[in-house]
Amino acid sequence: MATINDNYLKLKAGYLFPEIARRVNAFAQINPDAQIIRLGIGDVTEPLPEACRTAMIKAVEEMGNRETFKGYGPEQGYAWLREKIAQHDFQARGCDIDASEIFISDGSKCDCGNILDIFGNNNTIAVTDPVYPVYVDTNVMAGHTGDVNEKGEYGGLVYLPISADNNFTAQIPSQKVDLIYLCFPNNPTGATASKEHLQAWVEYAKANGSIILFDAAYEAFISDASIPHSIYEIPGARDCAIEFRSFSKNAGFTGTRCALTVVPKTLTGKTADGSKVEIWPLWNRRQSTKFNGVSYIVQRGAEAVYSEEGKAQTKALINFYMENAKIICDKLTQAGISVYGGVNAPYVWVKTPNNLSSWDFFDKLLNTCNVVGTPGSGFGAAGEGYFRISAFNSRANVEEAMKRITERFTVA
Ligand code: MLT
Repeated sequence: MATINDNYLKLKAGYLFPEIARRVNAFAQINPDAQIIRLGIGDVTEPLPEACRTAMIKAVEEMGNRETFKGYGPEQGYAWLREKIAQHDFQARGCDIDASEIFISDGSKCDCGNILDIFGNNNTIAVTDPVYPVYVDTNVMAGHTGDVNEKGEYGGLVYLPISADNNFTAQIPSQKVDLIYLCFPNNPTGATASKEHLQAWVEYAKANGSIILFDAAYEAFISDASIPHSIYEIPGARDCAIEFRSFSKNAGFTGTRCALTVVPKTLTGKTADGSKVEIWPLWNRRQSTKFNGVSYIVQRGAEAVYSEEGKAQTKALINFYMENAKIICDKLTQAGISVYGGVNAPYVWVKTPNNLSSWDFFDKLLNTCNVVGTPGSGFGAAGEGYFRISAFNSRANVEEAMKRITERFTVA
């Protein structure tokens, strides 16, 4: 009989969001008339920007014409899209990133997991707690951890606690770690990192030969001009960081799928015998072997994000979701509930009222208000007692959800 990857058996029950969906579906089955409002998974609700749709329709027409039809595209993405990204997202912010260092993909979640293909199995890996579960689970699957304990922590990982006490930004570790996952604006807490904080990480990484895996999927939601959008705004980051970005949340591509990963050509790691090796050729090799690129149609849609119309339309989308975030923050604060984030990020990190556990609050909210959020403990042990509310929904749903929650939960 074929053997399996035993590491999968170490994983805690279900992946967080399918587990929430399972509970919500079970509730909906016995309460078919409940008007459930889903503010759990950060999935967009508003239609694709017109500029993206127009570009994709044109691309579909091209695919229907022998002269303009496209077969396989470059595994790294089309040059015209990589160049636009390099210019608008990086060079315009003073980041020294070349188009050839940008790899187009079908999602940041996939890239965050796939990147482990090119790293060794003996790295010490640091994650914040709470954390986007994909960073942890993909390391468990790859056999980079021990077993899980009763708190939900995996042996072998270095957990860096983040809480209101440290503004949800992890303290630089005193020990040496090889790979560090950072996510800013943060999922799940909605926190941001200052230039000084990121500078401290870059200095740490350079001093220790570490690599920062920087998830900037929510950078478009930053409105405070002093907050960096990219790790490459920090001098020296080219030599110690990989950055992940996505079109999912800024342009509503969660169902359309397009993202990118930046691997600078100056980034190096070492072989088992200690020789220095460039990382870029490894990722290029990995993508060329295991990936055939994102569809031409979708890449044309992503390119349109950088047109004048596309910029205005994506900005309007972002403003819309951030107005939702403000409504969530204001209404919950008025009800005496403590909230964090929600200012430069589409997630609001809520202290559960009356010291309820995260899952107890989830159940109460579902049962009494028919509102779904995400239990903080699902993002790690230090998320216990917190709850994440996503601003990705219609205005009517956000207002109705806040009305229901504040009628039911008020903290004196
Ligand atoms: C979330 O809700 O944390 C995100 O939607 C997950 C993701 O982007 O994969």
